[in-house]
Amino acid sequence: MSKVKGFSKLNKEQKIQWLKENYFNGDSSIERVLRQYWNSDEKLQELHDGFIENPVSNFYLPYAISPNFLINGKIYAIPMVIEESSIVAASSKAAKFWLEKGGFTAKVVQTVKPGHVHLIYEGKKEELITFFEENKGKIIHRINPLQENMKSRGGGLLSLNLIDKTSLLPGYYQIEAKFDTVDSMGANFINTILEEIAMVFVELMPDRMKAQTQIIMSILSNFTPECIVRSEVSCPVNELATQNISGEEYARKFITAINIAEKEPYRAVTHNKGIMNGVDAVILATGNDFRAVEADAHAYASKDGRYTSLSHAEVKDGMFHYHIEMPLAIGTVGGLTGIHPLVKFSLQLLGNPSAKELMGIIASAGLAQNFAAVNALITEGIQQGHMKMHLNNLLQLLGASEQKSVEARKYFAQKKVSVKALKEFLQKT
Ligand code: MEV
Repeated sequence: MSKVKGFSKLNKEQKIQWLKENYFNGDSSIERVLRQYWNSDEKLQELHDGFIENPVSNFYLPYAISPNFLINGKIYAIPMVIEESSIVAASSKAAKFWLEKGGFTAKVVQTVKPGHVHLIYEGKKEELITFFEENKGKIIHRINPLQENMKSRGGGLLSLNLIDKTSLLPGYYQIEAKFDTVDSMGANFINTILEEIAMVFVELMPDRMKAQTQIIMSILSNFTPECIVRSEVSCPVNELATQNISGEEYARKFITAINIAEKEPYRAVTHNKGIMNGVDAVILATGNDFRAVEADAHAYASKDGRYTSLSHAEVKDGMFHYHIEMPLAIGTVGGLTGIHPLVKFSLQLLGNPSAKELMGIIASAGLAQNFAAVNALITEGIQQGHMKMHLNNLLQLLGASEQKSVEARKYFAQKKVSVKALKEFLQKT
């Protein structure tokens, strides 16, 4: 465990040698572990190496397709990148179920993204407010050259306001800027504009005010409660009937499960995690920022002071209505979208959607995932489906041959899967 200076200046080979000597007692097998994931196409490998600092290998995640998603009258095969074994199967099953009932209706409610210049002003409040109002036009004029391109695409700055936050922290104010970034996620655009706003804001101040002002930071907010999408499905209650329970009983149980998630944070977190299983998989496949989307979704789920469910259901006039409403600040241009070959592939597969269309697709994938999870939970339980999929991982882990794996899958088709039971089966056969 050594300290290192200038690690980033070493080439890839040297970095691996350094790791081998300092963390693996010179064990050469670690070189093989890292190298086996290098791409044989040097150009492609170079491209991936260029994404981040200090790369030594690639980290694979499965790239899968969940077909049969009928959304706003169009059928999509949705790309998903995820490691959890049951997610794509569950998503595809739910997509098919709703395909036969009219599919998903997705609607973008709003696409406003905020950012803030956070500052401390130690002078008189009224003086700052007057200064801001008198100079707002000049500030916007000065940032206009930076938003020409965005404006030509139909987006740009929507509003600029000074917000008094002194009740939170002495002298704390924000310059809040709201943007429409059209098809781009817009993080770089927003941050560039905010830094310019901060600079111009101080530059325009008389020296006396400058001395009382400290710009703390200028940054977009990943909390986007005004960048919202809604996706819903509905069907006559009787179409929810299964072999074992009536449609009415199924709907009652399903809605109670949702009500529990609406009221009880312990359940809501798990419930929303299930939604994010579907959302994150598409976010990754389309080269979007899953950390931003996660942070946003969970902040939105607690926007009214208590963490609650992102999905809701009800029965009205004999119809079962089920929907999700969530923030999704994403893009289909910029970032990785034009660079990563698989991201390009994903977007092509989806018909090169606008950001708004992709918001609808992702929200629908989240709702489908939630439906699959809650459906399993209120009927057969989650473990049956999970463990059936997990069986493949366990067979690999235990080094089962192809022949034994086929036999095991047949044997466990109607039985409970557990590591112990599987070990016993493999020993016996
Ligand atoms: C597992 O990844 C997700 C679930 O726990 C979601 C849920 O409980 O709703 C099955």
